[in-house]
Amino acid sequence: MAINIEKIREDFPILSRSVNGKPLTYLDNAATTQKPQTVIDAIVDYYTNYNSNIHRGTHHLSNLATEAHEAARNTIKDYINARHDREIIFTRGTTEAINLVASSFGQAFIKPGDEVIVTELEHHSNFVPWQMICERQGAHFRVVPFDENGDLQLDVLEKLLSDRTRILAFNHVSNSLGTVNPAKEIIKMAHDAGAAVLVDAAQSVQHIEHDVQDLDADFYAFSGHKIYGPTGIGVLYGKEKWLDAMPPYQGGGEMIDQVSVEKTTYNKIPFKFEAGTPNIVGPIGLAAAIDYINNFNFDELIAHEDDVLQYGFEKLGEIDGLKIYSQAKRHTSIIAFNVEGIHHYDLGTLLDTQGVAVRTGHHCTQPIMTALGVEGTVRASLALYNTKADIDSLVAAIRKALKMLGK
Ligand code: ALA
Repeated sequence: MAINIEKIREDFPILSRSVNGKPLTYLDNAATTQKPQTVIDAIVDYYTNYNSNIHRGTHHLSNLATEAHEAARNTIKDYINARHDREIIFTRGTTEAINLVASSFGQAFIKPGDEVIVTELEHHSNFVPWQMICERQGAHFRVVPFDENGDLQLDVLEKLLSDRTRILAFNHVSNSLGTVNPAKEIIKMAHDAGAAVLVDAAQSVQHIEHDVQDLDADFYAFSGHKIYGPTGIGVLYGKEKWLDAMPPYQGGGEMIDQVSVEKTTYNKIPFKFEAGTPNIVGPIGLAAAIDYINNFNFDELIAHEDDVLQYGFEKLGEIDGLKIYSQAKRHTSIIAFNVEGIHHYDLGTLLDTQGVAVRTGHHCTQPIMTALGVEGTVRASLALYNTKADIDSLVAAIRKALKMLGK
């Protein structure tokens, strides 16, 4: 299907509402994306017609729900090109997926004196869990800095990697700056040193390449709500060899094989990592979101987003006193900025009065803010339904806010 942005916008009902008496300009997609009607319908259909627990019942509704839930696993497996459905673990989101790996991989493979490497570009969710496991296991926590352009210092990574490195965790795209990290190159460097790699794909899976086999990621995590699906559902991909070798993360129903007073044995993957009744409708909604994306040529969607992004850089760059953070070699979907003399929160609030939704603050990346020497930024972030008209609205709203503040 060729890209028709006006038609795409009609598929997302919320985009036609007003906010504060103004048409909504939604530029907070890195925080969460809006949902197409097909995703909303899939969720309503589940609760209206076949709500039931899964993998447990013998009755008709339970079978329908189980089939839809497992079909969703298959849709997600195809989207990221995993080898097997069993390599797809459902979690609450990226954060839980990373905590699962840090805890379980950490328990099995990280020993006192070992090293774990992350980067200074990480969201707290790909930073703090690794600090916690290093503290628990007596391992060393190492951090790769970024340079003045917002690119990772790969020469530092090269020096940090050694036969003591057990795992490297990094994001494919920075949620704060929009830097696209050269994931294939980084993964190869880590593998050459004998380390496993986790890719935080929360801000990349919906915007750029997302083939886990091509990347050769050992673990790959993302959230449903950032790729047009519902909240409360996330995905952890792991290579079978790792998932088989890792202990369960949580105990309970579903994750067991046999339970007795003497000993409990565990289920096979993926169920070993899915204790308790899961978010049944979450994967169904997420699969509907992926089906929606699959209606289009992904390269055309990306070309459209890049076109709007470049226009954004150009137009925001024309505003006096506005500083854009990050001139990274490769960039996607995110523009972070401040205007001299104006607090990011005040600017965000004034934009909201004009119907323009952005995020302000440290974006759960305090190490980035420390490195930039700022408390926070304003962040405009794009999705497939944004247009140059949204950028024009943002720019007009900023200019109006500056006038109101006497700038
Ligand atoms: N991680 C999300 C963001 O960057 C919430 O805004």
